[in-house]
Amino acid sequence: MEVLEFWLTPPVMHALAVHAPLGLAFAGVPLIFISAAIARERATVRGLTVACYAALAGSAFLAKYTGERARSELSGALPGNVWDLVSQHEFFAEKVWIFALVTTALMALSLLRPRWVQSTAMTLAMIAGLATASWTAVAGHLGGALVYIHGVGVAHVVEPMQVGAASGVPAGTTDVLLPIREIEPAELASIEFARDIRPVLEEACIDCHNMDKARGGLDLETAPLVEAEGKKAGRAIIPGDPDASPFIKYIRGELKPQMPKGEKPISPDELHALRVWIKAGALEGPAPAASPPDTLSPPAPTVTVQPGSAPQ
Ligand code: HEC
Repeated sequence: MEVLEFWLTPPVMHALAVHAPLGLAFAGVPLIFISAAIARERATVRGLTVACYAALAGSAFLAKYTGERARSELSGALPGNVWDLVSQHEFFAEKVWIFALVTTALMALSLLRPRWVQSTAMTLAMIAGLATASWTAVAGHLGGALVYIHGVGVAHVVEPMQVGAASGVPAGTTDVLLPIREIEPAELASIEFARDIRPVLEEACIDCHNMDKARGGLDLETAPLVEAEGKKAGRAIIPGDPDASPFIKYIRGELKPQMPKGEKPISPDELHALRVWIKAGALEGPAPAASPPDTLSPPAPTVTVQPGSAPQ
């Protein structure tokens, strides 16, 4: 059972799924050129090439699917530059199936009757095949860099093999919480919801926590934020106590899964701003003025006492 569970973990499935598209994308190029060059058995070879690219489209789609699941398991403690590499890899990898599908369609057209359709489609298919191979190579290279240079996902392969080793450290405890720093009293007065907080929420949280899609039962868009409640952790924000607020605990990785789920963690400055804002009361409007405007009470007259003269 345990062996099966290991193979079914998203990172391992993704590792298995990515090699088929790589192989097919490179096998396809010679097939296209042979298809174009030969006269006998032309339809057979072209049919085979269509099948190759259709298989590539399917397997690239599977790799994309397993990749998305693998990403959602990545530790938020990965450094920012590694997350950037994850995004770049994803940008290329998630489009491989489209390239493959276009090439499949062009190769299928090259089987049609009118000669001019055949030859036009064949020429375009050669270009599409080369583009597919290059695009897939870049996606594969970025993915390879993640695994072999940065060790992303490797823990899943190494950890099960170390079960029984005398470490005694349960999996997951090696995760580092996002660091926090002291809040200065002066910061409490200068934090502004519209300027410092709303953009961070919109960028990092609202996609998954809104009225239509309230993941974890948490809607951070509609009601006042101090009232927002999740299914598991209850009220997310405790005004005045950022570090006891589930909102902050999920972002730091103290509660799992770390937020924003499966994405690059927010920056240390953004985390700090959120903590300052909660500490200052988690207000969504401008803070109430500390003292009423001066016009209501004229300043007390200043009395200067000079030696020798009586005060007025
Ligand atoms: C990609 C989608 C996604 C993004 C982006 C995201 N979340 Fe979540 N969030 C989830 C899911 C899914 C859950 C439920 C997780 C569970 O309990 O298994 C969740 C749960 C939570 C909970 C706990 C709710 C409860 O059960 O009480 C909090 C708090 C939370 N998210 C805060 C945030 C914050 C703050 C951000 C932005 C920094 C954020 N999330 C961004 C998907 C997301």
